[in-house]
Amino acid sequence: MARPNQARLDLGALRHNLGVARKLAPHSKVMAVVKANGYGHGAVIIAAQLESLADALAVASIEEAMELREAGISAPILLLEGVFEAKELGAAAQLGFWVTIDNEWQLRWLEEAVLPEPVHCWLKVDTGMHRLGVPADLTQTFYQRLKATDNALDDLVIYTHFASADDLQSNQTREQLALFDQVCATLPAPRSAANSPGLLAWPEACYDWVRPGYMLYGNSPLIEPHPNAEALQPVMTLTSAVISLRDVPAGEAVGYGASWIARRPSRIATVTIGYGDGYPRPAANGTPVLVNGRRASLAGRVSMDMITVDVTDLPDVHVGDEVVLWGKGLPVAEVARHAGTIGYELTTRMPARTPRIVISG
Ligand SMILES: Cc1ncc(COP(=O)(O)O)c(C=O)c1O
Repeated sequence: MARPNQARLDLGALRHNLGVARKLAPHSKVMAVVKANGYGHGAVIIAAQLESLADALAVASIEEAMELREAGISAPILLLEGVFEAKELGAAAQLGFWVTIDNEWQLRWLEEAVLPEPVHCWLKVDTGMHRLGVPADLTQTFYQRLKATDNALDDLVIYTHFASADDLQSNQTREQLALFDQVCATLPAPRSAANSPGLLAWPEACYDWVRPGYMLYGNSPLIEPHPNAEALQPVMTLTSAVISLRDVPAGEAVGYGASWIARRPSRIATVTIGYGDGYPRPAANGTPVLVNGRRASLAGRVSMDMITVDVTDLPDVHVGDEVVLWGKGLPVAEVARHAGTIGYELTTRMPARTPRIVISG
């Protein structure tokens, strides 16, 4: 029997989630973000589903965009960090990639390039995230220079990115929106601001384009529960199976470092999934897992290829029984909290060792 681990992909859920985004932003075009191997799901599988449903795709780099073109994806693809050197512009122009311009170097490379075709540009403005983007007071100048160069198509988009849209208590999103509105007021161009949390919780952030990533994979990025997030369906369900069972007397420890000690006579199930398969090593004792659809909890440190689970309270657990680590019935964000991280990281770090299995076409 093969090792039973699978990252099961429900592509029906993916399409449904794109529909949720459309419903929440009915007047916006949708750019589906598929960077980092489609947040770990498999960029080509995801992009092939989304390209006819979304208005464009987005990735981090030209390498990621080329992988999609080589796989036959013909949708427009925005490079969210733009090009990293001048010579990438030629390939971007040839392959129809849209480029972010977020600093002086990128703009100068564009102005000085000899290109087979002009490129479609997205001008990124720093409204408070302070990571990428041109300073707000230089936006007008960048805009004029992009309008002036023959290497940029005329249909420029202006965009920004939120730092704290997942936190409805934070005032930062309102401040970023106010600055973005002020910057754009005199610049006639389509605008874009909303990522997933923006789309889910800040309707005023849904301008001409929205750029959802995480929510398309069926997960809520919001810190608090939110009614708009309830409609999302997880795309990835990570599954494994019980490969061994044992009774452990009270007072005995389980696993590396003896970090979990049985407080009562306990039944321990060993599951053949570990950090080498994408399950997070920092997951703490008590992290929930589903065994035969019922909650049990992690007992002992995560190993490279295995975890141990306290199933004392579950009747009838057998070798071969299915274990769900996250996905349907167990949100990845909940597991991530127990590991001191976010669901984005857990899906994105899924290694090639764990096969992606499409369960719904
Ligand atoms: C510029 C930009 N837009 C959109 C997104 C998508 O964000 P999310 O996955 O939270 O929807 C990202 C992701 O990091 C991004 O960098």
